[in-house]
Amino acid sequence: MNYNELIDSAIKAKEFAYVPYSNFKVGAAIITKDGKIFTGCNIENASYGATNCAERTAIYKAISEGNRDFEAIAIVSSSGNFTPPCGICRQVIAEFMPNGIVILANDKGEIRKYSTSELLPIKFDLL
Ligand code: THU
Repeated sequence: MNYNELIDSAIKAKEFAYVPYSNFKVGAAIITKDGKIFTGCNIENASYGATNCAERTAIYKAISEGNRDFEAIAIVSSSGNFTPPCGICRQVIAEFMPNGIVILANDKGEIRKYSTSELLPIKFDLL
């Protein structure tokens, strides 16, 4: 699959980021196995800890609208560099997209692709 549309969706979502504290915008876009795209941006808060990352915004939007089967998630940021997902987002990605692809894009049009299990080989579980 060509992930250009997914990356473009993440780039557009990044512009909605609410980042008065870090000024670091992140955009994410997740695609379901049947081709639906959900986007997200990071949303910060004065209490800092209430901040929601772009990846989780996108995933939670998709889940809350009845979607469970995901193929890939694209992530971009205002830094222009590759922006790998934080540990909390890796845990959430692993729960909802265990066999998926994580695509990072920078502002030179380069991409890096990882499997979910490469990014978090052993996730937390209630075992
Ligand atoms: N951020 C994300 O949106 N995704 C990540 O995976 C890491 C960090 C956001 C949170 C905060 O608004 C800003 O980047 C700086 O940490």
